[in-house]
Amino acid sequence: MTQLDALFSPFTLGPLQLANRIVMAPMTRQFSPGNIPNDLVVDYYKRRAEGGVGLIITEGTCIGHKAANGYENVPYFYGEKALAGWKKVVDAVHGAGGKIMPQLWHVGSVRKEGMEPDGAVPGFGPSGLVAPGKKKCHEMTKADIAEVVTAYADAAREAMNLGFDGVEIHGAHGYLIDQFFWAGMNERTDEYGGDLAARTRFAVEVIQAVRAATAPDFPIVFRFSQWKMQDYNARLANTPEELESFLMPLSDAGVDIFHCSTRRFWEVEFEGSTLNLAGWTRKITGKPAITVGSVGLNKPFVDEEKKGFSGGEPASIDNLLTMLNNKEFDLVAVGRALIANPDWPLRLKQNKTIEAYDLEQLMKLV
Ligand code: FNR
Repeated sequence: MTQLDALFSPFTLGPLQLANRIVMAPMTRQFSPGNIPNDLVVDYYKRRAEGGVGLIITEGTCIGHKAANGYENVPYFYGEKALAGWKKVVDAVHGAGGKIMPQLWHVGSVRKEGMEPDGAVPGFGPSGLVAPGKKKCHEMTKADIAEVVTAYADAAREAMNLGFDGVEIHGAHGYLIDQFFWAGMNERTDEYGGDLAARTRFAVEVIQAVRAATAPDFPIVFRFSQWKMQDYNARLANTPEELESFLMPLSDAGVDIFHCSTRRFWEVEFEGSTLNLAGWTRKITGKPAITVGSVGLNKPFVDEEKKGFSGGEPASIDNLLTMLNNKEFDLVAVGRALIANPDWPLRLKQNKTIEAYDLEQLMKLV
């Protein structure tokens, strides 16, 4: 038994049966003209399933709400044409022996005017802030909140009906759900604002609605992060106790797996323990956790360092395997290494050369 065996051992949670512990991290690629995933997108995901990925989480895909989208050429998760495109993706991935979940996304106040589907619709946020202290977009009413919650539920129902293996709710990186979590963006004085536990209320309603719209055992993954696109140093929880007050309402609402987004998996989350964010999340909630962040990158990325995605010398895979073997987390998400190597799992297993990631690779959908 080598350390690597832990990564290639199966994982089962209710109806979810994964061949190994490797998860493709959600990555926006903007290759869906007209917001419809086409055959190039089908092949892109199929290649990762063929390459040995246990579970694919798709790029963020917009729920059916007028302000959900913030970018060009990202796929929608509503409307006949987009859903027909996704059906082809699911079937191709399953045909290759893989599993797949869509990442359900609402960008909130990150949306800029001019974006599809109606350029006149502004960004929506809990307090109308586009960044802490900057007031510019639409402050959500309770009717808006109810509408968005319903849109998440509708998307999850569609995902189940299309044959997806679960859904991931995007609650990370400073998009809508995270804007409710984040004190700097949520100044509400009603029940959707307040302390960190109170600021989970919107997410709790989303999770409960997704659960109610799907089967009792339909897997729900919830992705969250301390860091925000608008501020890499922002944090939700500064102590394990704060993290617990944040996680338990989400866990109780029906999350099955937590996807703990960090930029470097080896970073210690709180002083006094070597656990990372996924390690703490698993310990606090008792639920399976996914770790992520610079896994399999074999050189530092100076250009991306400026954007905050990565930095320093990447830790070796041995370090990751030791943490996995210690059962600090259950699954390992891989992003950029899977852009550079669609068959990263097979290459690792067979001890083949792993190509380095390069920003240029984002220009094409390979
Ligand atoms: C991302 N990431 C990301 N995260 C997310 O939750 N939804 C998304 O749509 C995207 N989009 C996206 C696009 C691109 C091009 C990159 C590089 C990243 C973050 C991603 O899921 C992952 O957390 C980070 O890339 C860190 O993992 P790696 O790349 O270091 O393995």
